[in-house]
Amino acid sequence: MNLESLIMFGLEKIAQKIEIPPAGVAADLAIPCFTEDPRVVAEKIRALNNPLFQDVVVVGRYVNISFDVVVLASTVINEVTRQKEKYGWNDMGANKTIFLEYSSPNIAKPMHMGHARNNAIGHSLARLYQASGYTVVTANFIGDWGMSLAKILLAYQKWGDEAAFTKDPIRHLLNLYVRVTEEIAKSGELEDEARALFKMLAAGDAELRALWEKFCAVSLTDFKRVYAMLKIDFDIWNGESFYERFIPTIIDEALVKGVATQAKDGPVVVDCNDPKLPPFLLRKSDGASLYGARDLAVAKWRLTEYPQVEKIVYVVGHEQELYLRQIFRTLGKMGYPEEKFIHVPYGVVTLEGKKISTRTGNIVFLEEGLREATKRAKGIKEVGIGAIIYNMLSMGREHDIAFSWGLALSLTGNSAPYIQYAFVRAKAILEKAKTADSRFKMQDSGIHPVAGDSFFLNLESCIVNPSSHEARLLKLIAFYSEAVRQAHALNAPHIVATFLNNFAQEFNRFYDAVPVLAEGESRALRLTLVGASAQVIKNGLWLLGIDVPERM
Ligand code: ARG
Repeated sequence: MNLESLIMFGLEKIAQKIEIPPAGVAADLAIPCFTEDPRVVAEKIRALNNPLFQDVVVVGRYVNISFDVVVLASTVINEVTRQKEKYGWNDMGANKTIFLEYSSPNIAKPMHMGHARNNAIGHSLARLYQASGYTVVTANFIGDWGMSLAKILLAYQKWGDEAAFTKDPIRHLLNLYVRVTEEIAKSGELEDEARALFKMLAAGDAELRALWEKFCAVSLTDFKRVYAMLKIDFDIWNGESFYERFIPTIIDEALVKGVATQAKDGPVVVDCNDPKLPPFLLRKSDGASLYGARDLAVAKWRLTEYPQVEKIVYVVGHEQELYLRQIFRTLGKMGYPEEKFIHVPYGVVTLEGKKISTRTGNIVFLEEGLREATKRAKGIKEVGIGAIIYNMLSMGREHDIAFSWGLALSLTGNSAPYIQYAFVRAKAILEKAKTADSRFKMQDSGIHPVAGDSFFLNLESCIVNPSSHEARLLKLIAFYSEAVRQAHALNAPHIVATFLNNFAQEFNRFYDAVPVLAEGESRALRLTLVGASAQVIKNGLWLLGIDVPERM
């Protein structure tokens, strides 16, 4: 049987969502039908004529499906063996391009543990889109312009210390930022000074420009060190300053199109005429443009440079939800395709219960966090860094999360180390087995069964019980591709994270209950399942941006 596109055995063409039914329901998959008649859906599934579906029955608003486990075993194992690190991928995005903006930290400020969440979500989405067949263009929209930078420049001119800067530039700039914000809170004068200084910078003042460039350079070096630790890279690095030149045109365009208005010498205002979207400014009466104008220019640049994009995705915290809705609506009113712009919001990260704040200086630098994690993970960087990434992804994005070392590094569940440990165990068994069994070989990417002719001969006798540990593990291996599909469809990496946690649990149950290495007719199948499990864990963690360790 040739199942070129395994995904969910053709079911994905019929069902929006495929679920694993709760324990106690005697079925392997359940398809909720709330808008369609389940009997019609059941007929469509039967018409697929897939030998894999032994029973297709309607129960209430669900269609329940039971697998023929023997067919499932040969199908799934063949597929994992053939696809290896691409097992679980699909081609739904073939010939499509997605533009993905994420990270976007600000110059002269450190990336902190809060940015870990943005980086983790963005990186995982990039890989999820890639695994769904898309061409992915990634952009890091660095905050290298504007008043908050002007304040730091001012603070440096006033209180900057060359030696402290050279020793630890970002720490020094952060201290200056904290100090200048405090002083501004006391007196407005400094704010005026910063505004004047920003004007000079924009006008091209050589000395300020050189200082600004110096800050940009040290920040970029700093960011890139962190990105290297996270294995993140971007196609586009244009910061806010790059888009300055397009702002006058976009404001004129908004005025000409009647989307923005300006009273004589007054500010330029956009009113979306929507009670949910308050009016906002593009330019103040003194001529200074605002953040919204820049975002309109950025959006237009993206559409112009990448006319083929299907979606432009913004991974930005949920506190900017209203703002981005205003921007996207304005673009729509100006005649651009509003529906292409997607905000992927996420909740706040607190550190052991305390709010992170650059302004008060209550932060843990991301780089230090990653190093600390590695130290706590006995120096194994895949485990330490993985622990932080997983912790940022394991909850639905919309929830706020409290980062805690205990949970992140837990060895008993819902953590990267727990899942990685299952992988390491699987690998250890196969290493032991391979000396005795030539049907397995090690490859750089892991362990693969060498499927021989006689390999599946006695499959039937050892997997015939559909509730055996073997069968349960096998069904989860099959379901992996559906988890990938759903995570992609909902921009929700936590679906993969949750899947992997359940998978590691099931693998551990199997491993504890079944004498995998024992001689006998089940040995080959069991070892193959171990190999396939290792592959699924490795592939799933990759989708989250997490590497597997060699040893633990
Ligand atoms: N640099 C901004 C910040 O730290 C995030 C940028 C979000 N992206 C955008 N296109 N506005 O808040």
